[in-house]
Amino acid sequence: MRIIQIHQFGSPEVLKVEEKEEPQVGPNQVVIDVQVAGVCFGDTIIRSGKYPLPLPLVPGLEVAGRVSGVGSDGDQSLVGKLVVARTKNNTGGYAEQAVVDATDIFHIPTGLSIEQAVGVFLSGQTAVGLIKAVNITPGEVVLITAAAGSLGSQLVQQARAAGAGTVIGAAHGKKKLDLITQLGADVAIDYSEDDWVEQVRKATDGKGADLVLDGVGGSIGHQAFEATAKGSGRLGVYGFSSGAWTQIETRELAARGITVIAPLTIAFAKPPHEARVDAEIALAEAEAGRLTAVIGQTYPLERAAEAHAAIEARQTTGKVLLIP
Ligand SMILES: NC(=O)c1ccc[n+]([C@@H]2O[C@H](COP(=O)([O-])OP(=O)(O)OC[C@H]3O[C@@H](n4cnc5c(N)ncnc54)[C@H](OP(=O)(O)O)[C@@H]3O)[C@@H](O)[C@H]2O)c1
Repeated sequence: MRIIQIHQFGSPEVLKVEEKEEPQVGPNQVVIDVQVAGVCFGDTIIRSGKYPLPLPLVPGLEVAGRVSGVGSDGDQSLVGKLVVARTKNNTGGYAEQAVVDATDIFHIPTGLSIEQAVGVFLSGQTAVGLIKAVNITPGEVVLITAAAGSLGSQLVQQARAAGAGTVIGAAHGKKKLDLITQLGADVAIDYSEDDWVEQVRKATDGKGADLVLDGVGGSIGHQAFEATAKGSGRLGVYGFSSGAWTQIETRELAARGITVIAPLTIAFAKPPHEARVDAEIALAEAEAGRLTAVIGQTYPLERAAEAHAAIEARQTTGKVLLIP
C-alpha cells in the first residue's frame, strides 16, 4: 500500500510517498481501507519537529473508509461498514490502509458523506468540547479568531447554536471574511487591519466581546485579549497557529479584570467516554444538517506536501482532506 512517511523533521518536502506492506490487525483493532484522511494544523507542527514523535512516522490522526479487517477477538460484522476513526498515537492516517483501535471507530450516519464525516469529526468534537467548556450565556457577544479555519468555522456555527447573541468572526482576507459571513457570523473583521480591535469595540457599543475564542496566539492573540470586555470578559485560549502563544502580563490581566480559560485542556482532560460523546454530538449535528464542515481543499495522497504548505501559508479554509 502507499503511505506518506517522514524520516526527518523539516519543511513539507519531507513528506514522501513510499510503499509498505499491508498492515496486520491486532487484537481489539480494525483495519480501515482509507477513502479520506484529514489533514490537521497539528500535523504540520509534528512534521516540523516542534512536537517530536519517534521517526520514521506516517502522519495523520483521522481517517474514514470501510472496515476491511477485524482482529480475531473482534466483531466480524464490522467488515464492510463505513466508519470514521482516530488513529493510534495520532499517526498512520496518510495511507491507503490504517489500523485503529476498535474502541476509536464511529459509524458514519446514513445521509452524511464521508468527506463531511471527516470534516466534522475531530474539529467538530474539539469545537463541541470548547463550547461546553466556556459556558456561553444566551445573548453573549462571542469573538472567534481564525474563524474561517478548520476549528474556527465549526466554532462560528456552534457558538451561534449555543445561544450567542452576536458572533464576530475575525480572519485574514476577503475570501475568508465572505466565508465567515456565509457560516452565520453577524460581523466579519479582517485582523490584518490595524484598527481591527477598534472595529470589534464599535460592533459591541464600545464594550468588547463577552467571550473570545483564540487559537492564533502571538500578536493577534494579544489584540484579541484587548478586544475582550473589561471587567466581565472571558478569553478562551486554545492554540498558537501563529507560532507563539499569547503573552499577557499579570498586570495587564489585573488592570482589565478578564478571566482567562484554557478550554482545550478542559475538553481534552475528559475521560474517553465523555470525549466520545462530543464526537457523537458533532456527527449527529452534521447528520441533522445543523453543522457543516467547510471542505476547503482536497488533495490526492501523494500531494500531502502541498496540503501542508498551503496550511502553513494561510491559504486554506475549513478542512483539508487527502484522498489515497
Ligand atoms: N483542528 C483541531 O481539531 C484542533 C485540535 C486541537 C488544537 N487545535 C489548535 O487550534 C488551532 C487552529 O487549528 P485548525 O486545525 O483549526 O487550523 P486552521 O484554523 O485551519 O489554520 C490556522 C489558521 O490560523 C491563522 N494564522 C494566523 N497566523 C498564522 C501563521 N503565522 N501561520 C499559519 N496560520 C496562521 C490562519 O488564518 P488567517 O489567515 O485567517 O489568519 C490559518 O488559516 C491550532 O493552534 C491548532 O493546533 C486544533
